Amino acid sequence: MKVTVVGAGAVGATCADNIARKELCDELVILDIKEGIAEGKAMDLMQTATLLGFDTKITGSTNDYAKTAGTDVAVITSGIPRKPGMTREELIGINAGIVKTVTKNILQHSPNAIIIIVSNPMDTMTYLALTSSGLPKNRIIGMGGILDSSRFKFYMSTAMGCAATDLQGVVIGGHGDTTMIPLARLATYQGTPVANYLDAETLKKVVADTMVGGATLTGLLGTSAWYAPGAAVAALVESIVRNEKKIFPCCVQLDGEYGQKDICIGVPVVVGKNGWEKIVDYKLNEEEQAAFAKSATAVRSMNDVLKTLEV
Ligand SMILES: NC(=O)c1ccc[n+]([C@@H]2O[C@H](COP(=O)([O-])OP(=O)(O)OC[C@H]3O[C@@H](n4cnc5c(N)ncnc54)[C@H](O)[C@@H]3O)[C@@H](O)[C@H]2O)c1
Repeated sequence: MKVTVVGAGAVGATCADNIARKELCDELVILDIKEGIAEGKAMDLMQTATLLGFDTKITGSTNDYAKTAGTDVAVITSGIPRKPGMTREELIGINAGIVKTVTKNILQHSPNAIIIIVSNPMDTMTYLALTSSGLPKNRIIGMGGILDSSRFKFYMSTAMGCAATDLQGVVIGGHGDTTMIPLARLATYQGTPVANYLDAETLKKVVADTMVGGATLTGLLGTSAWYAPGAAVAALVESIVRNEKKIFPCCVQLDGEYGQKDICIGVPVVVGKNGWEKIVDYKLNEEEQAAFAKSATAVRSMNDVLKTLEV
C-alpha cells in the first residue's frame, strides 16, 4: 500500500504523521513545491519511527511526481489556508489552479489512485478535481464533514460534560461557515437522543459553535487548524486502506441523492477499498432537507466561480 500526501504544510504533515503512526501503508510519500520542505518533514518523521514504533517508509519529494508512482491513495492538501477573518471561499482563486494541476500530475503517475481533496474551498475543489480528471465518481472524496462532525461532538460533549466518544453526531452539507449542517435531531448519546439532555437553546449554541469551529481556531492560531484536520484525513485513509466500510460524511458527487445532482457536497457515505461505495439516506425531515437545498445552492454558486477563473 502506498499513500502520497501533496502539501507538506501544517495539515499535510500532521496527516502524514497520523498515517505513519497507524501504519496505514508501507510507503508514504510527501510532496511539496517548496524546495526541501517535504524531504525535511519526511526525515523528521522518520526519526520518530523508533520512538513511536512504526515501520512505514516515509520519503519527501520537491515536486517530482515520478516518486509518487503507484500510489493507491493520494491526499491533496496543497494550497493556501485562510487567515483570520477570511472565509474558505476566498481561497478559490489561488487553490483552484493548484488542485487541478496536482490532480493531473498524480493521475499521470498513478492512474488507479483514489484521491482525497482537503484544500479549500473543499466542495468546489472536489468538484473541480472530479470534472477536470473525468475519474469515476467513487474515486474522488472531499474531506470536511469528518472534521466538522468531530468538532460537533467536541462542542456537544463540552455542553453535556460527557465523553465525546460516547456521542454520535454528523455534519452534512457544504464545508463552509454558513453551509454546513450539524444534524442536531439525529445526534445521540449512547443511542439516546442528545435532545433528551440538552435544552433547545444550548443545542442551538452547539450547532452555531460547530459551524464557526474552524474560524474560531483561525482567530486563535492566525492560520487554519491542523491537528483535527490531519487526524480526520487519516481516519478516512484508514477506512479505505483497511476496507473498513465505515460511514463518514464526505463530499461526493450526487446524482439525485438528497435531491441534488451535478454537485459535490457532504453526505454520509460508506468508505472502503474502492473509495466511497454507497450514499446512505438519513431520511432528512423537511427542515433539514430545506437546509441541505440551501447549502447546495451556495456550493453551486461557488462552483460557478470556476467558470470565471482561468484553470
Ligand atoms: N478540508 C478541511 O477540512 C480542511 C481543514 C484544514 C485546512 N484545510 C485546507 O488545507 C489547505 C492546506 O492547509 P495548511 O494549513 O496545511 O496550509 P500550509 O500553508 O501549512 O501548507 C500548504 C502547503 O502546500 C504547498 N503547496 C502550494 N502549492 C503547491 C503545489 N502546487 N504543489 C505542491 N505543494 C504546494 C505549500 O508549499 C505548503 O507547504 C488549505 O487550503 C486549507 O484551507 C482544509
